[in-house]
Amino acid sequence: MVPRYQINFELSQIEKKFCDFLIVGGGVAGLFTALKAAASGKEVMVLTKDSLEECNTTYAQGGIASVIREDDSQDLHFEDTLESGVNMCNSRAVEVLVEEGPLKVKELIDLGVSFDRVNYHYSLGREGAHSRDRVLHVGDSTGKTIQNVLMDSTRSRDNITIEEDVFVIDLLTYKNRCIGVLAYDENTGRVSACLSKVVVLATGGMGQLFNLTTNSNIATGDGLAMAYRAGAEVMDLEFIQFHPTVFYTPEGKAFLISEAVRGEGGILRNEEEEQFMVHYHPLADLGPRDVVARSIISVLKKTKTKNIYLDLRHLGEDFIRNRFPNIYCTLKQYNIDITTDLIPIVPAAHYTMGGVKTNLYGETNIPGLYAVGEAACAGVHGANRLASNSLLEGLVFGDRVVKGVKNYIKEVSLNLRDIEISCQEQSELKDRYKDNQEVKRLLRRIMFEKVGIIRSQDSLKQALNFIEENKDLLIYNILDKESFELKNIITLANLTARAALLREESRGAHYRQDFPSKKESWQKHLVFSLSRERKEELD
Ligand code: SIN
Repeated sequence: MVPRYQINFELSQIEKKFCDFLIVGGGVAGLFTALKAAASGKEVMVLTKDSLEECNTTYAQGGIASVIREDDSQDLHFEDTLESGVNMCNSRAVEVLVEEGPLKVKELIDLGVSFDRVNYHYSLGREGAHSRDRVLHVGDSTGKTIQNVLMDSTRSRDNITIEEDVFVIDLLTYKNRCIGVLAYDENTGRVSACLSKVVVLATGGMGQLFNLTTNSNIATGDGLAMAYRAGAEVMDLEFIQFHPTVFYTPEGKAFLISEAVRGEGGILRNEEEEQFMVHYHPLADLGPRDVVARSIISVLKKTKTKNIYLDLRHLGEDFIRNRFPNIYCTLKQYNIDITTDLIPIVPAAHYTMGGVKTNLYGETNIPGLYAVGEAACAGVHGANRLASNSLLEGLVFGDRVVKGVKNYIKEVSLNLRDIEISCQEQSELKDRYKDNQEVKRLLRRIMFEKVGIIRSQDSLKQALNFIEENKDLLIYNILDKESFELKNIITLANLTARAALLREESRGAHYRQDFPSKKESWQKHLVFSLSRERKEELD
């Protein structure tokens, strides 16, 4: 059983802060939401568990999809997104994304993001499964540039307070409403509360459930896990996107090699240097990510090799160094010159399509709790996200959260200062639980091998057995960030493996070796909610 709170506490005994609008997480979704909320006059607080720049947005290379050119249309962007999502997108959410996206991108430009241009026209990249060139970019550091502009903009606002290195342990709920969070300051070891009628989760995804991931170290799914503990519905967790092209460093860090590289003509090759993707998909190297990732696994199995290669050599040194300076410089540090050498490549966990279930205004089933960006599941991505739609989602739905909140704030009358909540559900305080590091290391490896690109009933059951053996950690009252994160990882690994076991078909990023086809009867979502499970336990 998953306890409601990770620690024992009494609200009356801990320090409290108050604000109008509390945002957990500081990537594109969190900071854009903060700017919009601040513009409406609210006192905004943003909490980040690491430094503000340490988030998935910073690592996004490719760019942001937006309909700009005359040979493109919102209808085409809509169709490409739906096609990628394999009948699992909420078409209304996708309409919102493609219709409102270009205006939000314009706002980003007005804030100071200077996308690459050629002869005064925006230079638009192509990525997998897009039918047109529509990816705005800043070299291969698009996310970092956007993050820097948003950090500067938010830091310059008087009514936005940013607190870094604050780990949010849990959402506080009172009479079924979300009223704030419990936070842990790693530097002082103190637990405090931030109280607000509106709490927005913009905590990103859960790539760190897997031992090979392009994600920032912060991406341990904290927002999803705490929302689940608080009774929120979480949806589509079985759909994890694996990026086909990642450079595996000796330190174990998976460095993304942007899909834009293949968009510009980069070719995947096997150990014989043959272009193998032509045998797997009509779009060859630019096929959907799930197809390319699975094809790579199949080549690796056939050839009994550890990696395949990405070849850019034919693109020319000047072009490569101008278009992909970040990739060029990073790989140089590993003695790989991408203008003359092949790049060793493996697939790695990249994006969480599922998340906290929301409507088109980021509202969850808990009044006062909102989710946005990768932490949310509004139905934009379905079973497989179209490349470069994620930064766009953060902008569009960040704006919508603030619009949605207006009505909620008007109708809710709560005096946050009078509320008393406590929890004594956990067992006594422990210093440490077993060997956190070892359990985490094993679990992340098992998740990649058994709940990864190719799954089966057997592999999923093996993963669930391991999770079951280590689940007792959840009931210990441990004041330590690593343990909080591990509890979140275990909780979400369990839900992800359970969802993947239930879905007896293959669709988008979810591939079952024992059920290799898509089934119409499975054109439905898997939603988990602890309050529902608790009710079932009682019945
Ligand atoms: C990439 O640059 O390949 C990543 C872009 C994305 O995931 O949308």
